[in-house]
Amino acid sequence: MTAVSATAASRQAPTDFAAVQALVAEDARQVDALIRRRLASEVLLVNQVAEHIVAGGKRLRPLVVLLAARAAGIRGDGHVAAAAIIEFIHTATLLHDDVVDESDLRRGRRTANSLFGNAASVLVGDFLYSRAFQLMVDLDAMPVMRLLADTTNAIAEGEVLQLMHIHNPDTTEADYLRVIERKTAILFAAAAQIGGLLAGLAQDQVRALRGYGHALGMAFQIADDILDYEADEGALGKHLGDDLAEGKPTLPLIHAIARAGGAEATALREAVASGGREHLPEVLAAIRSHGGLDYARTQAGHHATAATAALAALPASPYRDALAFLAGFAVSRGA
Ligand code: IPE
Ligand code: IPE
Ligand code: MG
Ligand code: MG
Repeated sequence: MTAVSATAASRQAPTDFAAVQALVAEDARQVDALIRRRLASEVLLVNQVAEHIVAGGKRLRPLVVLLAARAAGIRGDGHVAAAAIIEFIHTATLLHDDVVDESDLRRGRRTANSLFGNAASVLVGDFLYSRAFQLMVDLDAMPVMRLLADTTNAIAEGEVLQLMHIHNPDTTEADYLRVIERKTAILFAAAAQIGGLLAGLAQDQVRALRGYGHALGMAFQIADDILDYEADEGALGKHLGDDLAEGKPTLPLIHAIARAGGAEATALREAVASGGREHLPEVLAAIRSHGGLDYARTQAGHHATAATAALAALPASPYRDALAFLAGFAVSRGA
């Protein structure tokens, strides 16, 4: 192989998730070690709940931090701490989210709330949130601190905003987008932005990374809401139909309600208002007949395309290619 073709080969875009992970495997090992080290508490129940929840996630947000930092040419190891911080925040939100959503399956295991109770889940969620802030102080970078303070505040707003739309069949697509932007996309935006910030990128490139993360997060949550209706439950590690069960109108259903008429519209609206799982088969049939899942997939695809386009502001590298791969993965994933 000539030197030229060797370079070309090493530039080949990753074709699977494992190849993306392999690019930053050493960084990721350090992130995991840091998470484990800083999870510990002298309080037994904190350890039990935290150990339970921290196992088995995809670690997608830390992956975004690491790839963005590497794509930005980072020196030093601030990105390792930043990735752990982002995952702590994510994990805290999951503990709280499963209480609010009354979910009993996550990452293929019973949720912390179903094993240890709501009170323990909420309190250990707070522990993880504040642990993230302790790590931020260690990092000692005010722009990162400001970004993550704003980010956690927006996530909390998103979850409350969502609560306000529960059981509301009049929830519009715009309402839905406002919710998912806050509860999900802003954390992905922060994950990508932090990589650029720590690497000292120029402002417009940091902004581009933020735009990438935001669009990735929108695509990711829309896909999550599709999966809630049609995933392979074993692969997903969460129950299907959770969203309908709690009366949460997500994009596929919002789309179907807007297109249905007569008795069908009334039935769909009632299913949102009452929640529960008993109407899932009819609701799913109506969603399919109005193209709700395809519509949501198309919208997720637009966000993924926007994410990839934002990456043009960065120099070409295998890390940038991996970030582009993740945009497609967010939409096509099965878990
Ligand atoms: C679940 O996120 C919460 C959403 C924003 C949909 P992930 O699907 O990234 O959860 P884990 O960490 O891989 O379990
Ligand atoms: C994501 O929303 C929750 C947070 C970002 C906190 P979902 O409620 O759809 O997430 P899952 O499906 O429970 O993972
Ligand atoms: Mg949930
Ligand atoms: Mg979901």
